[in-house]
Amino acid sequence: MLIKKPPRNAPSEAHATPESAYVSRRTVMKGLGAGIGGLLLARSAHALDLFSSEKNAAAVRKPLEFAAAKPVPELTLTPEAKVTNHNNFYEFGTGKTDPAENSQGLKIEPWTLTVEGEVEKPATVDVWKLMNEIGLEERIYRMRCVEAWSMVIPWVGFELGKFLQRFAPTSRAKYVAFETLYDPEQMPGQRNRYVGGGVDYPYVEGLRMDEAMHPLTILSVGLYGKTLPPQNGAPVRLVVPWKYGFKGIKSIVKIKLVERMPPTSWNKLAPQEYGFYANVNPAVDHPRWSQASERFIGPGGLFSVKRQPTLPFNGYAEEVAGLYSGMNLKKFY
Ligand code: MTE
Repeated sequence: MLIKKPPRNAPSEAHATPESAYVSRRTVMKGLGAGIGGLLLARSAHALDLFSSEKNAAAVRKPLEFAAAKPVPELTLTPEAKVTNHNNFYEFGTGKTDPAENSQGLKIEPWTLTVEGEVEKPATVDVWKLMNEIGLEERIYRMRCVEAWSMVIPWVGFELGKFLQRFAPTSRAKYVAFETLYDPEQMPGQRNRYVGGGVDYPYVEGLRMDEAMHPLTILSVGLYGKTLPPQNGAPVRLVVPWKYGFKGIKSIVKIKLVERMPPTSWNKLAPQEYGFYANVNPAVDHPRWSQASERFIGPGGLFSVKRQPTLPFNGYAEEVAGLYSGMNLKKFY
């Protein structure tokens, strides 16, 4: 499939697919992957009856106004139904289909995002108002999960760097720390270590200031032309295409500019496996598996999942390798 911008309001694959086929595909997808790093095998969240009764009512996704991306002929888009049904969002369970099944009741409106720390103008912004006034654009990005699967996703969002400038970072701002909503009432994984994969919540992430200011780094508020579904991190999440997917923190409520390298959730949980930088690098294996290749989740069925070589910096080396010149990338993984 060649990349074409889908017309606004075009039916998604999920809408176009008969429910029976869709459900069976979701069941098949369940078999893929074994939780991040296979660290924890929490799979029976349903039995614990921890999830909201609203879990099956799909959250409404609104169409967005945005500047369409230029076509990227060499990339094939991952179908929307796969982007929204093969997720990691441990606050809603560790299985790949758990987030889609269990997050639909997440209250995403209203939603505020606070920017504070080393800025001259700290403020709390209304994310839904921001979406209307900021000027959104589409970015078709390769995405690479540390578990060695990859997707190509048409995100809608805005550059994090331009957004941060509004708050006037001080010269002491060296890193950016991000935080996901902490609300155990709504997020079953936060009240139960088993469901939540052992992560110390709230989920936190970080970037070096120059990474955050790089024009490829965006805050995303949508995909496939519509607002994000909860399972992909509604209403606002980070997207850094040259890094492993776990850097893409979801449902962000706080951004703090800081002097020192901030803690990150996966690094706290398994520092020998997940570093701060997490740049996609085929030459540096995960301690338990190779990162030299990846399974691309594309339009075909399970048996057509394509194995392809992993690209340095996930294919964005030309744009970002300079950020790390002189650094030993085996040490700073
Ligand atoms: N953000 C939060 N708050 N909680 C999570 O469990 N998982 C991360 C990242 N952001 C996660 C998160 C991981 S491991 C991946 S691979 C990506 O989200 C997956 O994003 P996607 O589901 O939109 O593909």
